[in-house]
Amino acid sequence: MKILITGGAGFIGSHVVRRFVKKYYDYMIFNLDKLTYAGNLENLKEVEDAINYKFIKGDICDREFIFNLFEVNKFDGVIHLAAESHVDRSIEHPMDFLTTNIFGTMNLLDAFRKSMSSDIDKRRIFHHVSTDEVYGSLGDEGKFLETTPYDPRSPYSASKASSDHLVSAYHHTYHIQVVITNCSNNYGPNQFPEKLIPLVINNIKNSKPIPVYGKGENIRDWLYVEDHSAALDLVFHKGRIGETYNIGGLNEWKNIELIKTLCIMMDKKLNRVPGYSEKLITYVTDRPGHDMRYAIDCTKIKNDLGWEPTVSFDKGLEMTVEWYLANSDWLNNVTSGNYQQYYKKQYEY
Ligand code: NAD
Ligand code: TYD
Repeated sequence: MKILITGGAGFIGSHVVRRFVKKYYDYMIFNLDKLTYAGNLENLKEVEDAINYKFIKGDICDREFIFNLFEVNKFDGVIHLAAESHVDRSIEHPMDFLTTNIFGTMNLLDAFRKSMSSDIDKRRIFHHVSTDEVYGSLGDEGKFLETTPYDPRSPYSASKASSDHLVSAYHHTYHIQVVITNCSNNYGPNQFPEKLIPLVINNIKNSKPIPVYGKGENIRDWLYVEDHSAALDLVFHKGRIGETYNIGGLNEWKNIELIKTLCIMMDKKLNRVPGYSEKLITYVTDRPGHDMRYAIDCTKIKNDLGWEPTVSFDKGLEMTVEWYLANSDWLNNVTSGNYQQYYKKQYEY
């Protein structure tokens, strides 16, 4: 089987590529990635020489290149993770998000359709990896279900919602075999330190201010990245065609509580006096249109496929902090050069 994974050099993609290369010896795993600021081949050192793995540098927005790639390789399945993924950047540069997340996805769908086999009985899946942010923002009560109406509120979530709709439309119109997964916030090794958890770890490590947007009362549902990767594996292989599955951590945290937990954990790890890191907390101007709360009901994937989160938050955070402390070179590399160029914090301290 030839499987194309897009965005495999990024945070979640690198875990998925590693999992598939190590687990499925009889598959050939192609990793297509443009290597934007968020893509890093260091994330894949462990598998780079594996005989069932091939890296292809390329842009999903380059339609001719994508058509050619599919024509030559006739992939048996696609797991599509490549995207612009950070809400703050989408507020600054929405066009980049619309281009990659919508048009890039459409190019893949068109190329997949064109290279579709005449054997309609064969399982040949386009798995679109998406976010719970397409459902909008929750109040104190309730959780997102697969049937929750879409209500995206940032350029990022609007672009992902649009791509979800395209995937669904291609299923209904052209009978492409698709599955869509909508997952909550991931954390773990390899995440670019613009997202909350690695940003906080990096700033504590360097004794820099920890920017808390607004009052820090927004709530996110956190899932360890390896658990997400396991869910994607299951849905790709066993998910019902044309269905959506929500994936979540059953693990809701107010930002400020999570940040304080990290402060305590890192004071211990770095042998600092208790309370040192908490003094770095700095309340800053809120993100425009900041979604208040995300929470996932993942009953469907549990009942249908037997998936549930396995890594406790204590354990996951511990492993994550350990990884960032042990991989200072990785952090230094990604936070220098291009990073400085791209990283413009628009919020006033
Ligand atoms: P990431 O930003 O870490 O990685 C994205 C990868 O896509 C990078 O390797 C980048 O180089 C590549 N890429 C970007 N534009 C490209 C293009 N035009 N052509 C080819 N490659 C391109 O993102 P992530 O956090 O790993 O997220 C992966 C996917 O999962 C995204 O689709 C995202 O919407 C979704 N998702 C993320 C989370 C989360 O918490 N991070 C949660 C739910 C869903
Ligand atoms: P983020 O990691 O950007 O993920 P998302 O916005 O996609 O959920 O942010 C997680 C939460 O943390 C969100 O409520 C915004 C907040 N946040 C801060 O308070 N400070 C920061 O520096 C960042 C990056 C995020």
